Amino acid sequence: MIRIRPQREADPAAVELLLDKSFGPDRSKKTVYRLREGVPPLPELCFAAFDGRELRGSLQFWPIQVRPLRSDGAPVPALLLGPLAVDPDYAGRGIGVGLMRVGLQKAAAQGHRIVILVGDLPYYARVGFGRKGAEGLRLPGPVDPDRLLIRELVEGAATGLEGLIEKPAAEKAVADPASGATKREAAP
Ligand SMILES: CC(C)(COP(=O)(O)OP(=O)(O)OC[C@H]1O[C@@H](n2cnc3c(N)ncnc32)[C@H](O)[C@@H]1OP(=O)(O)O)[C@@H](O)C(=O)NCCC(=O)NCCS
Repeated sequence: MIRIRPQREADPAAVELLLDKSFGPDRSKKTVYRLREGVPPLPELCFAAFDGRELRGSLQFWPIQVRPLRSDGAPVPALLLGPLAVDPDYAGRGIGVGLMRVGLQKAAAQGHRIVILVGDLPYYARVGFGRKGAEGLRLPGPVDPDRLLIRELVEGAATGLEGLIEKPAAEKAVADPASGATKREAAP
C-alpha cells in the first residue's frame, strides 16, 4: 500500500536518487533549477510516497516571487511546484496526483495563494493547473510557454499577474561553509 507523508531529515538521499532516475543527471541544467540554486525547498511542503520502506514518489515546493517588470509594484510571492517524480515501476497508480493533492491542500492551508510550475498541461490540468494567468510571466531562461502553468489557491490571486519569476528577495540563501548545505535567513 502506498503511504504519503511529509519528508523527513533522513529522506533527501533517496529523493536525489529518485530524481536522477526520473529526470536524468542533467536535470539541474533546466531553467527552473536557476530558481532553486542556493535556496532550499520549503521543508513543510516536501512530501514522500512510500511502499513499505521504499521511496516511490517525491514532491517538493520552492518559494519564488513574481517581480513586475513595468511597474514599481511589490513582488508577488508564489510557490514553484516540483520536482515531482514517481518511480517508473509505480507509474499510473495515482501517486503523482496524490502527492500534488496533498501538497496543494497543505499549501492552501498555510496561506499560499499562487502555485507555478513548468510541465505538461494535460497532466497538471488534473489538479487544476492551466495557462490562464501565466501569459504575462517570464522565467530567467528559455522555457516553452505552453508548459508554464499556474494555479490559484485563492480565487483571483493571479489576476493581472505579470513579471519575472525569480528567487524570493525577502530571504537569501546562505552557504554554510561547515556542511556545504544552505540555510534560509531573513534579509536585512
Ligand atoms: C509524470 C509523473 C510524475 C506521473 O506520475 P504518476 O504517479 O505515474 O501519475 P498518476 O498515476 O498520478 O497519473 C497517471 C495518469 O497521468 C497520465 N500522465 C502521466 N504523465 C503524463 C504527461 N506527461 N502528460 C499527460 N498525461 C500524463 C498517465 O497517462 C495516466 O493517465 P490515466 O490516468 O488516464 O491512465 C511520473 O511519470 C514521473 O515521475 N515522470 C518523470 C519525471 C517527470 O516528468 N516529472 C514531471 C515533470 S515536473
